[in-house]
Amino acid sequence: MNVRAVAAQVIYQVVDQGQSLSAALPPAQQKVAPRDGALLQEICYGVLRWLPRLESITQSLMDKPLKGKQRVFHHLILVGLYQISFMRIPAHAAVAETVDATKVLKKPQLRGLVNAVLRSYQRQQETLDAAAVAHDAGKYGHPSWLLKLLQKAYPEQWEQVVEANHEKAPMWLRVNRTHHTRDSYRALLTENGIDTDVHSDAEDALKLASPCDVTALPGFADGWVSVQDAAAQLSINYLQPQSGELILDCCAAPGGKTCHILEHKADANVVAMDVDATRLLRVKENLQRLQLNAQVICGDARYPADWWQGEQFDRILLDAPCSATGVIRRHPDIKWLRRADDIDQLVALQSEILDAMWAQLKSGGTMVYATCSITPQENSEQVKAFLARTSDATLVTGTADRPGRQILPGEENMDGFYYAELKKA
Ligand SMILES: C[S@@+](CC[C@H](N)C(=O)[O-])C[C@H]1O[C@@H](n2cnc3c(N)ncnc32)[C@H](O)[C@@H]1O
Repeated sequence: MNVRAVAAQVIYQVVDQGQSLSAALPPAQQKVAPRDGALLQEICYGVLRWLPRLESITQSLMDKPLKGKQRVFHHLILVGLYQISFMRIPAHAAVAETVDATKVLKKPQLRGLVNAVLRSYQRQQETLDAAAVAHDAGKYGHPSWLLKLLQKAYPEQWEQVVEANHEKAPMWLRVNRTHHTRDSYRALLTENGIDTDVHSDAEDALKLASPCDVTALPGFADGWVSVQDAAAQLSINYLQPQSGELILDCCAAPGGKTCHILEHKADANVVAMDVDATRLLRVKENLQRLQLNAQVICGDARYPADWWQGEQFDRILLDAPCSATGVIRRHPDIKWLRRADDIDQLVALQSEILDAMWAQLKSGGTMVYATCSITPQENSEQVKAFLARTSDATLVTGTADRPGRQILPGEENMDGFYYAELKKA
């Protein structure tokens, strides 16, 4: 099927129907020829990265917006504009292919409209681009509520954060240390013509010079290596699991951190729990591929009495549900699926889970609170409030004023992440 037509459908599903890109894109990949997979991904990611700019140009070029069943053609126009504006595809080819997509989308009568809009963009590109970046949303490609939040939270760094959110994320590997040291696996990759870099404190991490299919990685099927951002791998540095301990990975799916714990301490007694039964299947698959063992439980972290009658835990990793504002470079749809008031709801949920899980931690135990968010409300402010209401909690990471460690996206090529290590008296 025509790649542009499929891209327009994916963007329609995300922007108009609220589906996540990670749900909409994989089935769409099946509809295009394998050689077009990368192009489809590039167009979908690109349009979602620069949505307000493309919307603003479209608005200038059309008298009235397309509605109802014609909405997919609105997104097809965005697909065309993105190619002309941001890609190295020759403009005439981009226009021709995009206009051709109207046939596949079964409304050939809209061919003329799509053609006219794209051609008039070509003619007036400079003026229209200048007008589109005259407002902040168009210039920075973020919704204004998020932009304001970032400006307030990071007065010095917000522009850097916004820029990092537009970058293509690198592919990081986590070497399974039960099979290879990081350096011996790195040598194996070099022998296979795959160049990598190391990370200063994520000891198992390797960054690929350019992403590749996992099947090209030696021993992937046998569990020698996993794909995981270096920021997520830092959880092990804070959790520091020990042999024989009872450890809860709370909110564990799809199980990246559960497996990392077991790669470090295969004889730890690890419980992986999550509320989402479907996502827990991924935990089981990962454990199986890596030949590791954990007890996998489906339950709601707010109500541990419903799923845990055992003893209290020595360590708890609480990788909380969050706004995922630290991983926008991997999931640009987050910018359009999240709303400002989601943050307050998430903060309330996180704080309920924190309190419920704290009660399940042994005296002397360690809890690591983590998110892949960069909003202070979910991170430093959340932990500050927790410390203020929890007399037996001591902060190990950061200062009372700025508890925890906030990693911003792009820092050492990592995703945005937050960690706070807490100790129970
Ligand atoms: C950030 S993801 C976890 C990623 C995972 N720790 C990893 O490293 O692969 C957050 C998880 O929280 C789960 N979740 C959301 N609300 C929950 C709740 N009330 N109780 C338990 N899990 C919950 C979601 O299903 C999701 O899998």
